[in-house]
Amino acid sequence: MVIPAVWFVGAGPGDPDLITLKGNELLVNADLLIYAGSLVNPALVERSRAEVKLDSWGMKIEEMVSAMVAAAKAGKSVVRLHSGDPSLYGSIVEQIAELKQQGVEVKVVPGVSSLFAASAALKTQYTLKGVSETLIVTRPAGETLEEDDISRLSETGASMVFFLGTDKLSEIMEKLRCPKDTPAAVVYHASWPDQKVVTGKVDDIAQKTEEAGIHKTALIIIGGIVDPMGRYQRSVLYS
Ligand SMILES: C[S@@+](CC[C@H](N)C(=O)[O-])C[C@H]1O[C@@H](n2cnc3c(N)ncnc32)[C@H](O)[C@@H]1O
Repeated sequence: MVIPAVWFVGAGPGDPDLITLKGNELLVNADLLIYAGSLVNPALVERSRAEVKLDSWGMKIEEMVSAMVAAAKAGKSVVRLHSGDPSLYGSIVEQIAELKQQGVEVKVVPGVSSLFAASAALKTQYTLKGVSETLIVTRPAGETLEEDDISRLSETGASMVFFLGTDKLSEIMEKLRCPKDTPAAVVYHASWPDQKVVTGKVDDIAQKTEEAGIHKTALIIIGGIVDPMGRYQRSVLYS
């Protein structure tokens, strides 16, 4: 007996060429496609031959799950397309739990997170000898998170990347306990044609970002790795 299955696929950060080969094949051949409309490039949705394409924006988890269960049980190929990589600030675990309960298996295909499209835009490394051996990925408190750990985490000297924080940029900078002249960057729409990069320091990045007109869909990156020249040590491997 074939067990009905749903594929969770990482769409990549925006550039439609940054989906994996495996993800692309599943996307193209899907019968039902459910995608995160606000962050997935429409070119990927158009590329799919799916007869039913649903934007998950505004849909309740129960609606998504019942559509996926019905299609999977009817032998259809089902793809749930998440932006970037599904493991970062997505909601796959709750969907997987519901699907499993209804007898549907799940497989996950990773994607290129915006985390990596941002480091590519900055042409830097999050881990860099002599600058930082550690990367912290986090988000500020807000409507869906009561408390954050930003102040404590910022004392470690690790590279930091903030998701879901563009509209709280000033508050985040105020919470940081690293020196105010620590390099900082905001990368808007990494890998999209309208990508914007703003660089500065902890004490001026909020104003510069405001001047650039960026208010959403960006990552905030803090640490010496934003401005690595003159700070790093050469790697042992290539010396
Ligand atoms: C719900 S999270 C999804 C993250 C996604 N799973 C990933 O791996 O990129 C949405 C947040 O990711 C960030 N984001 C997503 N795509 C982005 C992009 N292309 N450039 C910059 N930030 C992006 C923004 O902070 C946005 O508010």
